[in-house]
Amino acid sequence: MAETVLVTGGMGYIGSHTTVEFLNKGYNVIIVDNLGNSSIEVLDGIYKICGQKPVFYNVDVTNYQQLSSVFKSHPEINSVIHFAAWKAVGESVEQPLKYYNNNLGGMSNLLQVMQENGCQNLVFSSSCTVYGQPDVLPVTEQAPIKEALSPYGFTKQVCETMIKDVIASNMSVRAIALRYFNPIGAHKSAEIGELPNGVPNNLIPFVTQTAYGIRKELMIFGDDYNTPDGTAVRDYIHVTDLALAHIAAIERLIESRNANDFEVFNVGTGTGNSVLEIVKTFEQVTAQKLNYKIVGRRAGDIEQVWADTAVAERELNWTAKLSLADSLESAWKWENNYRKNIEK
Ligand code: UFG
Repeated sequence: MAETVLVTGGMGYIGSHTTVEFLNKGYNVIIVDNLGNSSIEVLDGIYKICGQKPVFYNVDVTNYQQLSSVFKSHPEINSVIHFAAWKAVGESVEQPLKYYNNNLGGMSNLLQVMQENGCQNLVFSSSCTVYGQPDVLPVTEQAPIKEALSPYGFTKQVCETMIKDVIASNMSVRAIALRYFNPIGAHKSAEIGELPNGVPNNLIPFVTQTAYGIRKELMIFGDDYNTPDGTAVRDYIHVTDLALAHIAAIERLIESRNANDFEVFNVGTGTGNSVLEIVKTFEQVTAQKLNYKIVGRRAGDIEQVWADTAVAERELNWTAKLSLADSLESAWKWENNYRKNIEK
């Protein structure tokens, strides 16, 4: 019988792409999402890609009763992928309690409900933000966890610790935290993608919206970093590659191939690219000219980070396959498709 996976936050950017890959692999998917940063139309996009829809519950993971009743209605749930959380770094500085309530409260509830229902396997959506500015690059999973630069980053650190503590207390859960680097791009069909609210904070949606003419120009935050061209460097990973890492992680747990009850893996490409390289590659692959100007550094930004992916490759038998050009091309296709649809 097909395995059933519960995906919290499955309507969001990474959650929806992950849902698609699980459905394509023959899993049953149940989504719980409060639509706090997504919309119900995402289900149509998933349907267009997969020819089926996941089971969807408009449920907030911080609501114990609602979350519990989903598990009671679906005793077949034995694996959970936990995405549901707020994710804007800047907003978390302005409204820390919003982040603590949702990200930590949701994690706590989920662990409680999993325990009560004997649900065993958990994959948690963590972030390379837990490393801060690493002393050594590429950064390995052994790098020290540095003091978080934002409440958002702090919630990722605390959630990892919560999972570890609960497992140590003899709970029969085993978990994998995937530390994502910078997810970008969209499904190749352009039926789902990243949908930021308002003015995008992240680089790629700002780039595609600028190229489309919605934003006047891209501001590049700083060209005086200690990097080859002076702009900041990140490890940009295609969201579909990232989605596939979740399948590898869940299968490792289901097949009891995990070496420990709590494991962490870097999920990146292993390559760093600067902001200017992103701009140039985008211009090349899309034949669009991008207006940009260099401005001062953005507060809280780190200089450079990219992943050592050796452990994920070896243990998860997973590697990122899509190129930066693929990622940027898919992001541009998605922006165009999305705008065309809303302009109709
Ligand atoms: N950048 C610009 N102009 C913009 C937006 C971004 O120059 O308009 C630059 C940033 O300064 C940074 C790079 O592009 O150097 C990437 O910025 P993003 O905002 O896209 O991504 P971050 O690396 O800042 O943040 C991402 C995720 C966070 C996560 C963090 C971990 O958005 O959720 O990585 O490092 F916590």
